Amino acid sequence: MHYQPTWESVQKHVVPDWFHDAKLGIFIHWGLYSVPAWAPPAGELEKVIREEGWEAWFTRNPYAEWYLNSLRIPEGPTREHHVSTYGEDFDYDDFVPQFNKAVEKWDPDEWAALFQEVGAQYVVLTTKHHDGFLLWPSRHPNPFKEAYHTRRDLVGELTEAVRAKDMRMALYYSGGIDWTFNDTVVKTITDLGKAVPQQPEYVAYADAHWMELIERYAPVILWNDIAYPAAADLPQLFAHYYNTVEEGLINNRFTQTFNMEASEAADIMGGKHFDFTTPEYASYDEITEPKWEATRGIGFSFGYNQNEGVEHYLSVEELVRSFVDIVSKNGNLLLNVGPMADGTIPEMQQERLRGLGAWLATNGEAIFETRPWHVAEGTGSGETPLRFTQKGTTLYVTALEALPSGQMTLDGLIAAEDTEIRLLGHPDTLTWRQDKSGITASVPANLSAALSAAPATTLAITPQPQRQA
Ligand code: GLC
Repeated sequence: MHYQPTWESVQKHVVPDWFHDAKLGIFIHWGLYSVPAWAPPAGELEKVIREEGWEAWFTRNPYAEWYLNSLRIPEGPTREHHVSTYGEDFDYDDFVPQFNKAVEKWDPDEWAALFQEVGAQYVVLTTKHHDGFLLWPSRHPNPFKEAYHTRRDLVGELTEAVRAKDMRMALYYSGGIDWTFNDTVVKTITDLGKAVPQQPEYVAYADAHWMELIERYAPVILWNDIAYPAAADLPQLFAHYYNTVEEGLINNRFTQTFNMEASEAADIMGGKHFDFTTPEYASYDEITEPKWEATRGIGFSFGYNQNEGVEHYLSVEELVRSFVDIVSKNGNLLLNVGPMADGTIPEMQQERLRGLGAWLATNGEAIFETRPWHVAEGTGSGETPLRFTQKGTTLYVTALEALPSGQMTLDGLIAAEDTEIRLLGHPDTLTWRQDKSGITASVPANLSAALSAAPATTLAITPQPQRQA
Protein backbone atom coordinates (compact mmCIF):
# COMPACT_ATOMS: atom_id res chain seq x y z
CA MET A 1 0.00 0.00 0.00
CA HIS A 2 1.30 3.44 -0.87
CA TYR A 3 0.31 6.20 1.57
CA GLN A 4 -0.64 9.72 0.57
CA PRO A 5 0.24 12.69 2.80
CA THR A 6 -3.31 13.06 4.16
CA TRP A 7 -4.92 12.08 7.46
CA GLU A 8 -7.40 9.98 5.55
CA SER A 9 -4.67 7.93 3.94
CA VAL A 10 -2.43 7.38 6.97
CA GLN A 11 -5.45 6.48 9.08
CA LYS A 12 -5.87 3.39 6.90
CA HIS A 13 -2.70 1.95 8.40
CA VAL A 14 -3.16 -1.39 10.15
CA VAL A 15 -1.05 -2.54 13.11
CA PRO A 16 1.41 -5.14 11.76
CA ASP A 17 1.31 -8.63 13.26
CA TRP A 18 4.83 -8.42 14.62
CA PHE A 19 3.72 -5.82 17.16
CA HIS A 20 0.78 -7.97 18.32
CA ASP A 21 3.16 -10.92 18.61
CA ALA A 22 6.03 -9.12 20.31
CA LYS A 23 4.54 -8.41 23.78
CA LEU A 24 7.78 -7.29 25.40
CA GLY A 25 9.91 -4.27 24.56
CA ILE A 26 12.75 -2.67 26.49
CA PHE A 27 12.72 1.10 26.86
CA ILE A 28 16.00 2.88 27.58
CA HIS A 29 16.29 6.34 29.09
CA TRP A 30 19.89 7.42 28.86
CA GLY A 31 21.33 10.90 28.58
CA LEU A 32 22.91 13.81 30.47
CA TYR A 33 20.49 13.23 33.37
CA SER A 34 22.10 9.82 33.87
CA VAL A 35 25.15 11.66 35.27
CA PRO A 36 23.46 13.29 38.32
CA ALA A 37 20.93 10.40 38.38
CA TRP A 38 18.98 12.05 41.14
CA ALA A 39 15.31 12.58 41.97
CA PRO A 40 13.10 12.21 45.04
CA PRO A 41 11.43 8.77 44.79
CA ALA A 42 7.97 10.28 45.31
CA GLY A 43 5.83 7.47 43.86
CA GLU A 44 4.16 6.14 40.74
CA LEU A 45 2.86 8.69 38.21
CA GLU A 46 -0.87 7.92 38.13
CA LYS A 47 -1.02 7.47 41.90
CA VAL A 48 0.72 10.75 42.77
CA ILE A 49 -1.40 12.67 40.29
CA ARG A 50 -4.62 11.11 41.53
CA GLU A 51 -3.85 11.65 45.18
CA GLU A 52 -1.88 14.91 45.19
CA GLY A 53 -2.26 16.54 41.78
CA TRP A 54 0.09 17.71 39.05
CA GLU A 55 1.79 20.49 41.00
CA ALA A 56 2.91 18.10 43.69
CA TRP A 57 4.14 15.82 40.94
CA PHE A 58 6.32 18.42 39.23
CA THR A 59 7.68 19.82 42.50
CA ARG A 60 8.90 16.43 43.72
CA ASN A 61 9.23 14.86 40.29
CA PRO A 62 10.47 11.26 40.68
CA TYR A 63 11.54 11.14 37.01
CA ALA A 64 15.32 11.59 37.11
CA GLU A 65 15.28 12.53 33.40
CA TRP A 66 13.42 15.71 34.41
CA TYR A 67 16.45 16.88 36.43
CA LEU A 68 16.89 20.13 34.49
CA ASN A 69 13.26 21.14 35.10
CA SER A 70 13.31 20.05 38.74
CA LEU A 71 16.48 22.08 39.21
CA ARG A 72 14.59 25.22 38.25
CA ILE A 73 11.83 24.75 40.82
CA PRO A 74 13.20 26.34 44.00
CA GLU A 75 10.55 24.74 46.25
CA GLY A 76 11.69 21.26 45.25
CA PRO A 77 14.68 19.31 46.63
CA THR A 78 16.73 19.03 43.41
CA ARG A 79 18.18 22.56 43.47
CA GLU A 80 19.64 22.06 46.91
CA HIS A 81 21.07 18.68 45.97
CA HIS A 82 22.63 20.13 42.85
CA VAL A 83 24.28 23.07 44.61
CA SER A 84 25.64 20.99 47.45
CA THR A 85 26.98 18.32 45.10
CA TYR A 86 28.30 20.34 42.16
CA GLY A 87 28.38 23.93 43.42
CA GLU A 88 26.40 27.06 42.55
CA ASP A 89 28.08 27.64 39.19
CA PHE A 90 27.84 24.16 37.76
CA ASP A 91 25.54 24.29 34.78
CA TYR A 92 23.44 21.37 33.48
CA ASP A 93 25.45 21.60 30.23
CA ASP A 94 28.60 20.83 32.21
CA PHE A 95 27.35 17.24 32.27
CA VAL A 96 28.07 17.00 28.51
CA PRO A 97 31.82 16.27 28.77
CA GLN A 98 31.19 13.95 31.72
CA PHE A 99 28.59 11.97 29.80
CA ASN A 100 30.73 11.79 26.67
CA LYS A 101 33.64 10.50 28.74
CA ALA A 102 31.51 7.98 30.61
CA VAL A 103 29.95 6.42 27.48
CA GLU A 104 33.37 5.55 26.07
CA LYS A 105 33.18 2.41 28.23
CA TRP A 106 29.80 1.28 26.95
CA ASP A 107 29.42 -2.02 25.09
CA PRO A 108 26.15 -2.15 23.13
CA ASP A 109 26.48 -5.91 22.56
CA GLU A 110 26.22 -6.53 26.31
CA TRP A 111 22.90 -4.72 26.42
CA ALA A 112 21.59 -6.54 23.39
CA ALA A 113 22.62 -9.91 24.82
CA LEU A 114 20.83 -9.14 28.10
CA PHE A 115 17.63 -7.96 26.39
CA GLN A 116 17.60 -11.00 24.17
CA GLU A 117 18.10 -13.28 27.16
CA VAL A 118 15.07 -11.69 28.82
CA GLY A 119 12.96 -12.37 25.74
CA ALA A 120 12.45 -8.80 24.56
CA GLN A 121 11.39 -8.51 20.92
CA TYR A 122 12.09 -4.81 20.48
CA VAL A 123 14.06 -1.98 22.02
CA VAL A 124 13.17 1.72 22.21
CA LEU A 125 15.97 4.22 22.85
CA THR A 126 15.66 7.91 23.78
CA THR A 127 17.37 9.76 20.92
CA LYS A 128 16.52 13.16 22.41
CA HIS A 129 14.79 13.71 25.73
CA HIS A 130 13.26 16.95 27.05
CA ASP A 131 16.69 18.52 27.68
CA GLY A 132 17.30 18.53 23.90
CA PHE A 133 20.62 16.65 24.07
CA LEU A 134 21.08 14.32 21.07
CA LEU A 135 22.34 10.75 21.34
CA TRP A 136 23.52 10.75 17.75
CA PRO A 137 25.75 13.18 15.86
CA SER A 138 23.01 14.79 13.78
CA ARG A 139 23.30 16.64 10.50
CA HIS A 140 20.95 19.10 12.22
CA PRO A 141 22.86 20.14 15.33
CA ASN A 142 21.30 22.19 18.11
CA PRO A 143 21.34 25.85 16.98
CA PHE A 144 21.80 27.27 20.49
CA LYS A 145 24.38 24.99 22.04
CA GLU A 146 27.57 23.89 20.42
CA ALA A 147 28.21 20.16 20.15
CA TYR A 148 25.10 19.35 22.17
CA HIS A 149 25.21 15.69 21.21
CA THR A 150 27.19 12.56 21.95
CA ARG A 151 30.52 12.00 20.25
CA ARG A 152 29.72 8.32 19.77
CA ASP A 153 26.69 7.45 17.70
CA LEU A 154 24.81 5.75 20.53
CA VAL A 155 21.66 5.41 18.42
CA GLY A 156 23.44 3.76 15.51
CA GLU A 157 25.58 1.47 17.61
CA LEU A 158 22.67 0.18 19.65
CA THR A 159 20.54 -0.25 16.54
CA GLU A 160 23.19 -2.48 15.03
CA ALA A 161 23.71 -4.53 18.19
CA VAL A 162 19.97 -5.04 18.69
CA ARG A 163 19.42 -6.18 15.10
CA ALA A 164 22.38 -8.54 15.32
CA LYS A 165 20.43 -10.32 18.08
CA ASP A 166 17.27 -10.54 15.94
CA MET A 167 15.34 -7.93 17.86
CA ARG A 168 13.75 -4.84 16.34
CA MET A 169 14.87 -1.29 16.98
CA ALA A 170 12.52 1.62 17.69
CA LEU A 171 13.26 5.24 18.55
CA TYR A 172 11.91 7.71 21.09
CA TYR A 173 12.07 11.44 20.36
CA SER A 174 10.74 14.22 22.57
CA GLY A 175 8.89 16.26 19.96
CA GLY A 176 6.78 18.19 22.47
CA ILE A 177 9.35 19.36 25.00
CA ASP A 178 12.77 20.72 24.14
CA TRP A 179 14.12 23.06 26.78
CA THR A 180 16.74 24.44 24.41
CA PHE A 181 13.92 25.91 22.27
CA ASN A 182 11.45 26.72 25.02
CA ASP A 183 12.65 26.87 28.59
CA THR A 184 9.27 27.38 30.27
CA VAL A 185 9.60 25.82 33.70
CA VAL A 186 6.92 23.14 34.05
CA LYS A 187 5.16 23.33 37.42
CA THR A 188 1.59 22.70 36.33
CA ILE A 189 -0.13 20.84 33.56
CA THR A 190 -0.90 24.18 31.90
CA ASP A 191 2.82 24.95 31.84
CA LEU A 192 3.36 21.67 30.01
CA GLY A 193 1.17 22.92 27.17
CA LYS A 194 2.95 26.30 27.14
CA ALA A 195 6.35 24.61 27.06
CA VAL A 196 5.74 23.05 23.63
CA PRO A 197 7.91 25.04 21.18
CA GLN A 198 5.79 26.36 18.31
CA GLN A 199 8.24 28.54 16.36
CA PRO A 200 8.84 27.64 12.68
CA GLU A 201 12.53 26.94 13.40
CA TYR A 202 11.54 24.23 15.82
CA VAL A 203 9.01 22.68 13.45
CA ALA A 204 11.75 22.39 10.84
CA TYR A 205 14.25 21.09 13.41
CA ALA A 206 12.01 18.34 14.84
CA ASP A 207 10.81 17.28 11.38
CA ALA A 208 14.38 17.16 10.10
CA HIS A 209 15.36 14.98 13.05
CA TRP A 210 12.56 12.49 12.49
CA MET A 211 13.42 12.39 8.76
CA GLU A 212 17.08 11.83 9.54
CA LEU A 213 16.33 9.12 12.12
CA ILE A 214 14.11 7.33 9.59
CA GLU A 215 16.72 7.55 6.87
CA ARG A 216 19.70 6.49 9.00
CA TYR A 217 18.15 3.92 11.32
CA ALA A 218 14.76 2.87 9.87
CA PRO A 219 13.15 2.53 13.34
CA VAL A 220 10.16 0.17 13.61
CA ILE A 221 8.34 2.68 15.83
CA LEU A 222 8.23 6.46 15.84
CA TRP A 223 7.84 6.77 19.61
CA ASN A 224 7.20 10.48 20.01
CA ASP A 225 6.72 12.05 23.43
CA ILE A 226 4.37 14.68 24.92
CA ALA A 227 3.17 16.47 21.75
CA TYR A 228 4.25 17.93 18.44
CA PRO A 229 4.20 21.54 17.22
CA ALA A 230 0.81 22.54 15.79
CA ALA A 231 2.18 23.81 12.47
CA ALA A 232 3.91 20.56 11.54
CA ASP A 233 2.62 18.59 8.56
CA LEU A 234 2.23 15.22 10.24
CA PRO A 235 0.40 13.38 7.44
CA GLN A 236 3.43 14.17 5.30
CA LEU A 237 5.84 12.72 7.87
CA PHE A 238 3.66 9.70 8.60
CA ALA A 239 3.09 8.82 4.94
CA HIS A 240 6.79 9.12 4.24
CA TYR A 241 7.54 6.88 7.21
CA TYR A 242 5.00 4.18 6.33
CA ASN A 243 6.22 4.20 2.73
CA THR A 244 9.82 3.81 3.90
CA VAL A 245 9.59 1.38 6.83
CA GLU A 246 7.19 -1.30 5.80
CA GLU A 247 6.34 -2.68 9.22
CA GLY A 248 6.58 0.59 11.11
CA LEU A 249 4.23 1.94 13.77
CA ILE A 250 3.43 5.36 15.21
CA ASN A 251 2.54 5.92 18.87
CA ASN A 252 -0.20 8.20 20.21
CA ARG A 253 1.89 11.08 21.48
CA PHE A 254 1.98 13.22 18.36
CA THR A 255 -0.89 15.37 19.53
CA GLN A 256 -0.94 18.88 18.13
CA THR A 257 -3.62 20.07 20.55
CA PHE A 258 -3.46 19.21 24.21
CA ASN A 259 -6.53 17.97 26.04
CA MET A 260 -6.07 19.80 29.33
CA GLU A 261 -9.28 18.39 30.81
CA ALA A 262 -8.06 14.81 30.67
CA SER A 263 -7.34 13.36 34.07
CA GLU A 264 -4.97 10.56 33.09
CA ALA A 265 -1.52 11.49 31.86
CA ALA A 266 -1.75 9.35 28.73
CA ASP A 267 -5.08 10.84 27.65
CA ILE A 268 -3.63 14.31 27.43
CA MET A 269 -1.58 13.09 24.53
CA GLY A 270 -3.90 11.21 22.14
CA GLY A 271 -2.79 12.23 18.63
CA LYS A 272 -5.05 12.40 15.57
CA HIS A 273 -3.56 9.26 14.08
CA PHE A 274 -1.81 6.48 15.96
CA ASP A 275 -1.31 2.73 15.89
CA PHE A 276 -1.35 2.21 19.65
CA THR A 277 -1.88 4.01 22.95
CA THR A 278 0.76 4.33 25.66
CA PRO A 279 -0.58 4.28 29.24
CA GLU A 280 2.23 5.26 31.60
CA TYR A 281 2.37 3.68 35.07
CA ALA A 282 -1.19 2.68 34.27
CA SER A 283 -3.11 -0.19 32.75
CA TYR A 284 -6.57 -1.14 31.54
CA ASP A 285 -9.08 -3.30 33.43
CA GLU A 286 -10.46 -5.04 30.34
CA ILE A 287 -9.48 -6.20 26.87
CA THR A 288 -8.96 -2.87 25.13
CA GLU A 289 -8.79 -1.88 21.48
CA PRO A 290 -6.88 -0.30 19.86
CA LYS A 291 -3.63 -2.06 20.55
CA TRP A 292 -1.83 -0.59 23.57
CA GLU A 293 1.57 -0.60 25.17
CA ALA A 294 1.94 -0.06 28.90
CA THR A 295 5.15 1.61 29.92
CA ARG A 296 6.91 2.16 33.22
CA GLY A 297 10.27 2.07 34.92
CA ILE A 298 11.17 -0.78 37.24
CA GLY A 299 11.09 1.83 40.01
CA PHE A 300 9.41 5.26 39.92
CA SER A 301 11.75 6.79 37.34
CA PHE A 302 12.75 6.16 33.72
CA GLY A 303 16.23 7.70 33.99
CA TYR A 304 18.52 6.03 36.52
CA ASN A 305 17.82 7.39 40.02
CA GLN A 306 20.48 6.61 42.59
CA ASN A 307 17.98 7.35 45.40
CA GLU A 308 15.85 4.36 44.56
CA GLY A 309 16.18 1.25 46.65
CA VAL A 310 14.59 -2.14 46.56
CA GLU A 311 11.49 -0.71 48.26
CA HIS A 312 10.79 1.44 45.20
CA TYR A 313 11.32 -1.36 42.69
CA LEU A 314 8.81 -3.83 41.37
CA SER A 315 9.49 -7.34 42.58
CA VAL A 316 9.87 -10.09 39.99
CA GLU A 317 6.49 -11.42 41.10
CA GLU A 318 4.75 -8.08 40.57
CA LEU A 319 6.49 -7.66 37.25
CA VAL A 320 5.49 -11.09 35.93
CA ARG A 321 1.91 -10.82 37.14
CA SER A 322 1.34 -7.36 35.73
CA PHE A 323 2.89 -8.45 32.43
CA VAL A 324 0.52 -11.43 32.13
CA ASP A 325 -2.39 -9.16 33.02
CA ILE A 326 -1.40 -6.62 30.34
CA VAL A 327 -0.99 -9.27 27.63
CA SER A 328 -4.38 -10.83 28.44
CA LYS A 329 -5.96 -7.40 27.77
CA ASN A 330 -4.35 -6.74 24.37
CA GLY A 331 -1.33 -4.83 25.65
CA ASN A 332 2.41 -5.02 25.23
CA LEU A 333 4.78 -4.11 28.03
CA LEU A 334 7.52 -1.59 27.31
CA LEU A 335 9.63 -2.08 30.38
CA ASN A 336 12.14 0.66 31.03
CA VAL A 337 15.78 0.30 31.95
CA GLY A 338 17.69 3.31 33.28
CA PRO A 339 21.42 2.72 32.78
CA MET A 340 24.12 4.63 34.60
CA ALA A 341 26.03 7.23 32.59
CA ASP A 342 28.74 4.72 31.64
CA GLY A 343 26.19 2.21 30.35
CA THR A 344 26.17 -0.05 33.40
CA ILE A 345 22.70 -1.45 33.97
CA PRO A 346 22.24 -1.34 37.75
CA GLU A 347 22.31 -4.75 39.41
CA MET A 348 18.80 -4.44 40.88
CA GLN A 349 17.37 -3.75 37.43
CA GLN A 350 19.26 -6.67 35.94
CA GLU A 351 17.86 -8.96 38.61
CA ARG A 352 14.30 -7.95 37.74
CA LEU A 353 14.95 -8.41 34.03
CA ARG A 354 16.54 -11.81 34.53
CA GLY A 355 13.71 -12.91 36.82
CA LEU A 356 11.19 -12.04 34.14
CA GLY A 357 13.37 -13.79 31.55
CA ALA A 358 13.55 -16.96 33.63
CA TRP A 359 9.78 -17.04 33.95
CA LEU A 360 9.38 -16.48 30.21
CA ALA A 361 11.84 -19.25 29.38
CA THR A 362 9.26 -21.67 30.79
CA ASN A 363 6.01 -19.81 30.17
CA GLY A 364 6.73 -17.73 27.08
CA GLU A 365 4.50 -20.03 25.04
CA ALA A 366 1.51 -18.45 26.84
CA ILE A 367 2.71 -14.93 26.03
CA PHE A 368 4.51 -14.52 22.69
CA GLU A 369 2.39 -14.61 19.53
CA THR A 370 -0.81 -15.03 21.54
CA ARG A 371 -3.99 -12.99 21.32
CA PRO A 372 -6.56 -12.11 23.97
CA TRP A 373 -9.30 -14.68 24.52
CA HIS A 374 -13.05 -13.88 24.81
CA VAL A 375 -12.43 -12.62 28.33
CA ALA A 376 -9.18 -11.69 30.06
CA GLU A 377 -9.94 -12.71 33.63
CA GLY A 378 -11.26 -15.73 35.45
CA THR A 379 -10.87 -17.51 38.76
CA GLY A 380 -9.51 -20.85 39.84
CA SER A 381 -10.95 -22.80 42.77
CA GLY A 382 -13.01 -19.74 43.54
CA GLU A 383 -10.14 -17.54 44.73
CA THR A 384 -7.09 -17.73 42.52
CA PRO A 385 -6.97 -14.95 39.89
CA LEU A 386 -6.53 -16.33 36.36
CA ARG A 387 -5.64 -14.66 33.07
CA PHE A 388 -6.36 -16.07 29.62
CA THR A 389 -4.52 -15.89 26.30
CA GLN A 390 -4.92 -18.02 23.17
CA LYS A 391 -2.93 -19.27 20.23
CA GLY A 392 -4.25 -21.64 17.57
CA THR A 393 -6.33 -24.34 19.21
CA THR A 394 -4.84 -23.81 22.67
CA LEU A 395 -6.13 -21.74 25.59
CA TYR A 396 -3.52 -20.64 28.11
CA VAL A 397 -4.66 -20.13 31.66
CA THR A 398 -2.15 -18.43 33.92
CA ALA A 399 -2.66 -18.39 37.68
CA LEU A 400 -1.35 -15.17 39.19
CA GLU A 401 -0.57 -16.87 42.46
CA ALA A 402 1.58 -19.74 43.52
CA LEU A 403 -0.37 -22.80 42.45
CA PRO A 404 -1.21 -25.23 45.23
CA SER A 405 -0.53 -28.86 44.43
CA GLY A 406 -3.53 -31.13 44.48
CA GLN A 407 -6.74 -30.06 42.82
CA MET A 408 -7.18 -26.90 40.83
CA THR A 409 -10.57 -25.99 39.43
CA LEU A 410 -10.78 -23.60 36.51
CA ASP A 411 -14.16 -22.07 37.21
CA GLY A 412 -16.80 -22.01 34.51
CA LEU A 413 -14.88 -23.83 31.74
CA ILE A 414 -16.17 -26.80 29.78
CA ALA A 415 -13.71 -29.15 28.08
CA ALA A 416 -14.31 -31.64 25.27
CA GLU A 417 -13.55 -35.25 26.11
CA ASP A 418 -10.31 -35.48 24.12
CA THR A 419 -8.84 -32.38 25.83
CA GLU A 420 -5.21 -32.35 26.86
CA ILE A 421 -4.00 -30.20 29.71
CA ARG A 422 -0.31 -29.43 30.12
CA LEU A 423 1.49 -27.54 32.84
CA LEU A 424 4.12 -25.41 31.08
CA GLY A 425 7.61 -26.47 32.03
CA HIS A 426 6.62 -30.05 32.90
CA PRO A 427 6.63 -32.96 30.52
CA ASP A 428 3.52 -34.95 31.51
CA THR A 429 -0.06 -34.11 30.71
CA LEU A 430 -2.31 -33.68 33.72
CA THR A 431 -5.31 -35.79 34.59
CA TRP A 432 -8.50 -33.82 34.79
CA ARG A 433 -12.25 -34.15 35.13
CA GLN A 434 -15.24 -32.08 34.24
CA ASP A 435 -17.83 -31.22 36.85
CA LYS A 436 -20.49 -28.60 37.38
CA SER A 437 -18.17 -25.86 38.54
CA GLY A 438 -15.58 -26.27 35.81
CA ILE A 439 -12.50 -28.24 34.83
CA THR A 440 -10.59 -29.70 37.75
CA ALA A 441 -6.99 -30.59 37.00
CA SER A 442 -4.80 -32.65 39.31
CA VAL A 443 -1.46 -31.04 39.99
CA PRO A 444 1.07 -33.71 40.99
CA ALA A 445 2.48 -33.41 44.51
CA ASN A 446 6.09 -33.73 43.35
CA LEU A 447 5.73 -30.38 41.59
CA SER A 448 4.58 -28.49 44.64
CA ALA A 449 7.99 -27.01 45.55
CA ALA A 450 8.57 -25.70 42.01
CA LEU A 451 5.05 -24.35 41.77
CA SER A 452 5.04 -22.48 45.04
CA ALA A 453 8.29 -20.75 44.03
CA ALA A 454 6.98 -19.58 40.64
CA PRO A 455 5.42 -16.10 40.43
CA ALA A 456 2.74 -17.49 38.11
CA THR A 457 1.91 -20.86 36.56
CA THR A 458 0.34 -21.68 33.23
CA LEU A 459 -1.92 -24.49 32.12
CA ALA A 460 -2.23 -25.06 28.37
CA ILE A 461 -5.58 -26.53 27.34
CA THR A 462 -6.03 -28.05 23.87
CA PRO A 463 -8.53 -27.80 22.25
CA GLN A 464 -9.83 -24.59 23.75
CA PRO A 465 -12.64 -25.16 26.25
CA GLN A 466 -16.02 -23.46 26.11
CA ARG A 467 -17.34 -21.00 28.68
CA GLN A 468 -20.39 -21.86 30.74
CA ALA A 469 -23.35 -19.73 29.75
C1 GLC B 1 6.83 11.12 29.75
C2 GLC B 1 7.91 11.79 30.44
C3 GLC B 1 9.10 11.09 30.48
C4 GLC B 1 9.25 9.73 29.97
C5 GLC B 1 8.05 9.19 29.31
C6 GLC B 1 7.96 7.74 29.00
O1 GLC B 1 5.71 11.70 29.64
O2 GLC B 1 7.89 13.14 30.45
O3 GLC B 1 10.18 11.60 31.16
O4 GLC B 1 10.16 9.82 28.94
O5 GLC B 1 6.98 9.92 29.13
O6 GLC B 1 6.71 7.28 28.75
